[in-house]
Amino acid sequence: MKIILVWSAAVLICAFSAKGLAQAEDQYYNDRYCTTCHGVDGIGNEGVSAPRLAGMEPWYLQRQLESFRAGTRGTHKMDVQGSEMQPMAAKLSDDSIADIVAWVGSWEYKPAQITVKGDAEAGKSLYATCAACHGTQGEGNEAFAAPALAGQSDWYLKTQLENFKAGYRGRDPRDSFGSQMVAMASMLKDEAAIKNIVSYINTLGR
Ligand code: HEC
Ligand code: HEC
Repeated sequence: MKIILVWSAAVLICAFSAKGLAQAEDQYYNDRYCTTCHGVDGIGNEGVSAPRLAGMEPWYLQRQLESFRAGTRGTHKMDVQGSEMQPMAAKLSDDSIADIVAWVGSWEYKPAQITVKGDAEAGKSLYATCAACHGTQGEGNEAFAAPALAGQSDWYLKTQLENFKAGYRGRDPRDSFGSQMVAMASMLKDEAAIKNIVSYINTLGR
């Protein structure tokens, strides 16, 4: 009996120290690894172009980390912001991603600051097409793999629409989710249309 107890304790200690070692080696266990760029409480930081993470749907967060890791996002040479994030995800294991998703899930949701000024009324009619996937309140729809847009950093939404339109995001043949957005973004004819639609999204879900 005594031997079995000692043996189990040894197994447990080994299991814990292996986990402890993995954590120490994984840079993301530094609690500032993500927030250094993504802002205090994950609220987003326009200065380094890193969007709000707090409140993001776990399935969307996981998929983006996987896309960056696989290089299906953030590897186009013109995707300046995406190529800053891509190396941050490149080193993550599946376990690390699961831990990060749980960790970010514990951060409190706060809608990002409004910075983009456009004609929200004009944006409203443009948004009708988007609502089919992203929801009438911009709340997102997991069944269509479309994330929430309401409350996201508005300058980031603008960059993403520009990047989809220019083909800097969503053109990798393996990126089946991003590719749906390329056609959608090309519907927005110029910068004014993009600002208008983002201004309308700013009125949703607050
Ligand atoms: C060196 C700065 C930096 C660090 C550190 C960093 N990021 Fe990022 N991240 C960015 C930038 C810049 C973008 C915007 C990319 C773009 O515009 O396409 C981004 C984008 C993202 C996105 C995409 C958001 C969306 O709505 O699609 C996710 C998810 C993300 N980061 C998660 C993380 C997580 C989790 C960590 C910590 C493990 C992290 N980031 C660390 C700079 C960083
Ligand atoms: C057919 C469904 C569909 C329609 C319609 C659609 N989207 Fe999307 N959208 C998606 C999917 C799926 C993604 C996730 C792409 C990915 O995983 O990389 C997405 C991503 C986005 C993103 C990036 C969000 C982020 O956090 O990085 C923005 C911005 C966006 N959509 C805006 C729009 C706007 C504006 C419209 C209308 C002009 C629109 N979408 C129409 C499916 C759709």
